[in-house]
Amino acid sequence: MAGSALHSALTCTPLLTTMPARQIFVTTALPYANGNFHIGHIMEYIQADIWVRTHRMLGNEVNFVGADDTHGAPIMIAAEKAGKTPQQFVADIAAGRKQYLDGFHIEFDNWHSTDAPENHQLAQQIYLDLKANGLIETRTIEQFFDPEKAMFLPDRFIKGECPKCHAKDQYGDNCEVCGAVYAPTDLIEPYSALSGAKPVLKSSEHFFFKLSDPRCVAFLEDWTQNGRLQPEVANKVREWFTVRTNPDGTTSEGLGDWDISRDAPYFGIEIPDAPGKYFYVWLDAPIGYLASLKNLLDKRGQNYDDYMANPALEQYHFIGKDIVTFHTLFWPATLHFSGRKVPDSVFVHGFLTVNNGEKMSKSRGTGLDPLKYLALGMNPEWLRYYLAAKLSSRNEDIDFNADDFMARANSDLVGKFVNIASRAAGFIAKRFGGALGEVSADGDALLEHLRSVAPAIIELLAEREYGKALRETMLLADRVNEYVDQNKPWELAKKEGMEARLHDVCTTCIEAFRVLTILLKPVLPALAAQVEAFLKVAPMNFASLQQPLGQGHVIGQYQHLMQRVDIKQLEALFEPPAQAEPEPVATVPGGEELAPTISIDDFAKIDLRIAQIVNCEAVEGSTKLLRLTLDVGEGRTRNVFSGIASAYKPEDLIGKLTVMVANLAPRKMKFGVSEGMVLAASHGDEKANPGIYVLSPWPGATPGMRVG
Ligand code: MSP
Ligand code: ZN
Repeated sequence: MAGSALHSALTCTPLLTTMPARQIFVTTALPYANGNFHIGHIMEYIQADIWVRTHRMLGNEVNFVGADDTHGAPIMIAAEKAGKTPQQFVADIAAGRKQYLDGFHIEFDNWHSTDAPENHQLAQQIYLDLKANGLIETRTIEQFFDPEKAMFLPDRFIKGECPKCHAKDQYGDNCEVCGAVYAPTDLIEPYSALSGAKPVLKSSEHFFFKLSDPRCVAFLEDWTQNGRLQPEVANKVREWFTVRTNPDGTTSEGLGDWDISRDAPYFGIEIPDAPGKYFYVWLDAPIGYLASLKNLLDKRGQNYDDYMANPALEQYHFIGKDIVTFHTLFWPATLHFSGRKVPDSVFVHGFLTVNNGEKMSKSRGTGLDPLKYLALGMNPEWLRYYLAAKLSSRNEDIDFNADDFMARANSDLVGKFVNIASRAAGFIAKRFGGALGEVSADGDALLEHLRSVAPAIIELLAEREYGKALRETMLLADRVNEYVDQNKPWELAKKEGMEARLHDVCTTCIEAFRVLTILLKPVLPALAAQVEAFLKVAPMNFASLQQPLGQGHVIGQYQHLMQRVDIKQLEALFEPPAQAEPEPVATVPGGEELAPTISIDDFAKIDLRIAQIVNCEAVEGSTKLLRLTLDVGEGRTRNVFSGIASAYKPEDLIGKLTVMVANLAPRKMKFGVSEGMVLAASHGDEKANPGIYVLSPWPGATPGMRVG
């Protein structure tokens, strides 16, 4: 049985000995600041958060930081489209982060930005150190340039006909129709996706990090192959040392040099002593890990250089499989050759899909909206538990399956775990004034078994084998439930003279429940806090396993700890769009009779607000509707459908201010939920007098101001 194998692993586990606290610095990948989090991001954060909580419960000292990845051409262009400065644009995205992180109990110590002063300063210093080490070189390269926008075009902003299959409108780096990979210069009749202009070839001086330098190759071969990476990741990386794919699809030998500069206009960090040159976003993005840490330590009055100089400091990055090159080649080389500490490891996870769906698209959104999940009142710990149960230490894709999700949460969490407390707590309260009793030999044996398996489960958590850890934990819960079924406290309660045995059995159950709660706490921190309140104990860590509640300890009133997943919630979460129902446009009199008089109080019920249209898109399948993303100064945005497609082009509305009814009950429409209504003027008789005019405030109004 797995239980006994784990038992023998106990003797060699170093985790629970009284070693000095490890110092650990942990990050997750920095999300691009051009969109809200999707469920794939949340999965990565939950994976890292569980690991961080595990180490904290072991007594280790962890700093866990994140930040927005703000730089680069796509964000600069998106900001321009939204009518904002890039700084404003990324600040608005940043304002939306907290509700996701708090909502799923993801406890970063700090959330920062790659555009923060710490990052500018660190990136420039690191570059100067690399340069002093002889690893920076300049070369003149030819690139496509948009003469209308006066800027060099990133590959993704050049389109044209595929040189292979002749599909039209393909991107500059690869063809989505036939899959061919090529250089933008291979496209037939290329055009700028920004202006439509025909791009011209123009030469420019670029800065390169000489990764092909023998020093770099030797360092990276060692760093990537000396056992610190997951085996499947190390194998993949090994191939890059022998062969690499060029932009035109041909291959070359060994590591290539890395182009780290971009020309103005660019939203990024200026390269010292090189006017008009900026760091390519991937140079400064991981430096953002350090910038966020520095910002955190500064706020605490701790010294960043001292912290980093500690030879015992461990540094780990949680990332997805798509960004391995950056984190296993460029990033360690950047750190090592600028004289800095290199990561101890990089933990790579696979991609999350939803209900066997395709991989989540960065731009297209997903099948599982994290905010909708929370808004439906679904318990965030169901998701934490479910994802954890699927995760291992390997780089594997996982799928969110709605049926499986419901079965796991209901049978494991409610049926097996919470049930133990609910079966015992009532008797303790009613029959024994809340006080715990004495545990006899059979109860002790059960508890001893739980405590003896615990270290191996903790070890699995610390190795990111969450699925295995939870399976072992549930086997323990099964053992406890067997004990309950054998002893039947509900029958003991009815029998004469069985008072002491009832007390013994229920006390055993409560202690067993406490042990299971400790093991589940990294995954279910909020539930564990509720249990701590119920048991009237201080916050528990893994050392608390050895500190059972004593005889006479008085526990609190049991309150139901967790609901079952309701199928209706899942149906709502994945609801197929309802029947088409174009949102009526608000009208004002104009050839149309006045509505009956209302009082000032009636009017006051309508909460009109200034709203900024931060995004606007056509609605596929509707000729009438536009989908508006509105900022009403709430720190989140709203989705509103408006029947104004006949009058406005989406791009003409982006960035504009308007007026909305902000307290209108949300309405479900075929294409999604509409959370309000935008005010527009139109004639009473639309046929005779077509024309729709969206209201807009005079200059000076800002999003969130009340209108009235
Ligand atoms: N900005 C870069 C990372 C810079 S790190 C210095 C980036 N951003 S991202 O927003 O596109 O992705 C952030 C993280 O989310 C990455 O680790 C990525 O692998 C992960 N995921 C994106 N889609 C995902 C899934 N569908 N599933 C799991 N993780 C996914 O890349
Ligand atoms: Zn093609």
